[in-house]
Amino acid sequence: MIQGPEPEATRRSAGITESSRASRGWWDRNADDYQIEHGDFLGDDRFVWGPEGLDEAEAALLGPAAGLKGRSVLEIGAGAAQCSRWLAAQGALPVALDLSRRQLQHARRIDQEPGRPAPLPLVQADAAFLPFADASFDLACSAYGALPFVADTGRVQREVRRVLRPGGRWVFSVTHPVRWAFPDEPGPEGLTAASSYFDRTPYVEQDDRGLAVYVEHHRTLGDRVREIAAAGLRLVDLVEPEWPRWNEQEWGGWSPLRGRLLPGTAIFVCVAE
Ligand SMILES: C[S@@+](CC[C@H](N)C(=O)[O-])C[C@H]1O[C@@H](n2cnc3c(N)ncnc32)[C@H](O)[C@@H]1O
Repeated sequence: MIQGPEPEATRRSAGITESSRASRGWWDRNADDYQIEHGDFLGDDRFVWGPEGLDEAEAALLGPAAGLKGRSVLEIGAGAAQCSRWLAAQGALPVALDLSRRQLQHARRIDQEPGRPAPLPLVQADAAFLPFADASFDLACSAYGALPFVADTGRVQREVRRVLRPGGRWVFSVTHPVRWAFPDEPGPEGLTAASSYFDRTPYVEQDDRGLAVYVEHHRTLGDRVREIAAAGLRLVDLVEPEWPRWNEQEWGGWSPLRGRLLPGTAIFVCVAE
């Protein structure tokens, strides 16, 4: 296969449309590798919040598993919908949404394995433009889906609030904001702050024409709290999973070495007012 030059990594602004287009292309091109590399850790029907390995079965951030039966749940940035499959096994009624067609094809591939129950409802859409009526869902969740990649995350929060019924929970995990200041490396080089935590300029990889092919957006902890409150959501918990002794597995820049010293994941637990 002929491949073009390596994308150039830079820091520059990237708006809603450019970020969305870059994410869709990147995840379509990289979904196969992502599922090959992380599929075993994710499991086909496990709900894990991040590289530390905190399971929803243990954490119950959406509420006790016994209370999920019959509840409608929107999973945002679902990838191969592993979390939705766990929710369905608890009797919930999940809808798995993702921007990437290829990620959703992996969801369908798993659902079509022999012995699987009915396939999950899958929706290809952008988290900033949810194609659902107001107050359609009892719960919403996202494990590292969409929010790190979206330019207007305040808009995502407002969209989630709109489609949730009052009192509904919205739980999402993202890279812990303090990580932004450190090189994204699993080894010792990832332990020394190299850039400002307060610099919100996006991380962009661009091709030789200057078009973004990968974008990550940063929000400080305070930014996230303000966006949540402004959307009409109430923050009820902020979970920072500690790196467990049993987990020796690296995931990109997340590693036992860094995990013992720095938080890697932030999980925001919100309720629709
Ligand atoms: C790190 S993966 C997480 C996938 C899955 N939640 C998991 O834990 O494996 C991020 C996912 O977010 C999706 N995504 C990125 N930008 C999105 C957007 N604007 N709207 C919806 N999904 C998006 C990607 O396609 C990808 O599947």
